[in-house]
Amino acid sequence: MTLTIGVDVGGTKVAGGVVDPDGKVLARTRRDTPAEDVAKTRDVIVDVVTELAASHPVTAVGIGAAGWIDAARSTVLFAPNIAWRDEPLRDYVSAAVELPVIVENDANVAAWAEFRYGAARHADDSMIMFTVGTGIGGGIVLGGELVRGAHGIAAELGHMLAVPSGHLCGCGRLGCIEQYASGHALVRFARAGARQEPDRATGLLALAGGDAELITGPMVTAAAQAGDPVSQHAFAQIGHWLGIGLADMVQILDPQVLVLGGGVVEAGDLLLGPTRRSYVEALAQRGRLPVAELRPAELGNTAGMVGAADLARRR
Ligand code: BGC
Ligand code: NA
Ligand code: ZN
Repeated sequence: MTLTIGVDVGGTKVAGGVVDPDGKVLARTRRDTPAEDVAKTRDVIVDVVTELAASHPVTAVGIGAAGWIDAARSTVLFAPNIAWRDEPLRDYVSAAVELPVIVENDANVAAWAEFRYGAARHADDSMIMFTVGTGIGGGIVLGGELVRGAHGIAAELGHMLAVPSGHLCGCGRLGCIEQYASGHALVRFARAGARQEPDRATGLLALAGGDAELITGPMVTAAAQAGDPVSQHAFAQIGHWLGIGLADMVQILDPQVLVLGGGVVEAGDLLLGPTRRSYVEALAQRGRLPVAELRPAELGNTAGMVGAADLARRR
């Protein structure tokens, strides 16, 4: 049985696990991501791998990172929400831990895990996943393989256009769907709603000590669950854009299954409900033609490490 290590490098946490061929996590560890310090983030990854490799006989390491990775799965070329620019992550980590390493996009590894072991495991051919967190990520599986594109940067679904000349995105362009459907967008919509209609946001404002600028994502989720209309409307707005993005992908690729994942999906039907309505509405002209079912992700925050580890096993 080959064991491999998967490491999920996020904006706040570096989480690693030893994973077996059935996608089972046998051991795990995590550290905080050192804010804004790229050099230190590499060393935290090395630290996590070293700790896990000391207790298990592993053969390779997969790293899922929130950025644009080159075709060789070696270098992080660019990351809209992290300070990585042409970061040679694979060679640095590989030299330090003396194991083969692959680097892959964070949403690609999550999609791969859901395809192999999670919400899309019954699909044998194709699936498309959106991850909704700080940013919006995408992963595409076609013909049973992850689609990486000619330069490694395929499936950047968060940077499809939503609003022409809209909000400035971390990628440098105006109006990307990431600016209208991410966790950040949820907070922006909720703050705007609370400023405009404070009497319909009393529950939300109470959580933020009365100051709309102090509203956070978890507050919007808690208030929406308790029935706060402005918070529920914020979820409806990001769901609206997600449904449109998913429908566009169906028009292009007609996959077997669609999966919605990422931290914000923990809000359950608050997000899935409006997303599904918008998705169905956006494809209404198709009438009774068959269309991919939309499912919530099943692997939660282990998807990244499980997918990265499996891709390292198959390298
Ligand atoms: C990045 C993607 C990443 C996604 C989720 C986006 O801003 O462009 O590479 O997968 O955020 O982290
Ligand atoms: Na991707
Ligand atoms: Zn963008």
